Amino acid sequence: MGFFITFEGIEGCGKSTQLELLKAHLEKKGRAVLSVREPGGTLLGERVRSVLLNGTEEGIDPWAELFLYEACRAQLVAKVIKPALASGKVVLCDRFFDSTLAYQGFGRGLDSEKIEGLNALATGGLVPDLTFLVDCAEEVGLKRAWARINASAGAREDRVEKEELAFHRRVRGGFLEIARAAPRVKVVDGSREISTVHREICDIIEGAAGL
Ligand code: TMP
Repeated sequence: MGFFITFEGIEGCGKSTQLELLKAHLEKKGRAVLSVREPGGTLLGERVRSVLLNGTEEGIDPWAELFLYEACRAQLVAKVIKPALASGKVVLCDRFFDSTLAYQGFGRGLDSEKIEGLNALATGGLVPDLTFLVDCAEEVGLKRAWARINASAGAREDRVEKEELAFHRRVRGGFLEIARAAPRVKVVDGSREISTVHREICDIIEGAAGL
C-alpha cells in the first residue's frame, strides 16, 4: 500500500509550494509520487473547479457548492487516488476533506456533522495518513494571494479570495480546531521562510511510520 499525504491551509499559506518541494524531496529518495489537487485532478473535477472558482451569474447556493466539492472528491478518490495508493505510490493532495469542513462548515456555517457524513461518502472512508496544516494569519495569506494575482498578467481573484477577512479568519480557526482533534494533522507555521517550513516538513516525514 502507498501513503496518503494532504496539505491544507488558507489562501496564500504556501501549501502548494510546500507540496511541490516535498514531491521533489521524496522523488530524490526514490519514491514514486503522484500529486493532485482539489477541486480537480480529473477531467470532471477540473471542469467543476472552474465553475466553483469562477461562480455563475445566478450565484452558487452553499449546499450546491458543498455537493460540487464532494462530487469532485468522489471522482478523484475513485479514479486516481485509490488506484495510485494500491500501486504503492505516495499520493500528495493539495486540499482534501478538511478544507470542506473548514470552508463550508466553519466559513459558510453549514452543519459540520452533515459535512462529515458527506465527506465519508465521497471518500469511501479514505482518510489521509498524514496532513500538513500550513498555518498563517489571514492577513499574511491574503496579502500573498493578492501579490500573486497582481504579478500574473490576466489572473483575477476567484470567488473565495473575494470573501471578506472575517470569512478567512473563521476558516483558519476551523483548520486549527480540526488539527486539535486529529493527531494525523501536523501544524507548521507557514509565515516563515519557504526553506525553513520545508525542512520541518521533511523532519516530520522522516519520523512518519509507514512511509
Ligand atoms: P486553491 O487551489 O487555491 O487551494 O483553491 C481552491 C479553493 O477552493 C480555495 O479557495 C478553497 C476552496 N475549497 C472549498 O471551499 N472547499 C473544499 O472542499 C475545497 C477542496 C476547496
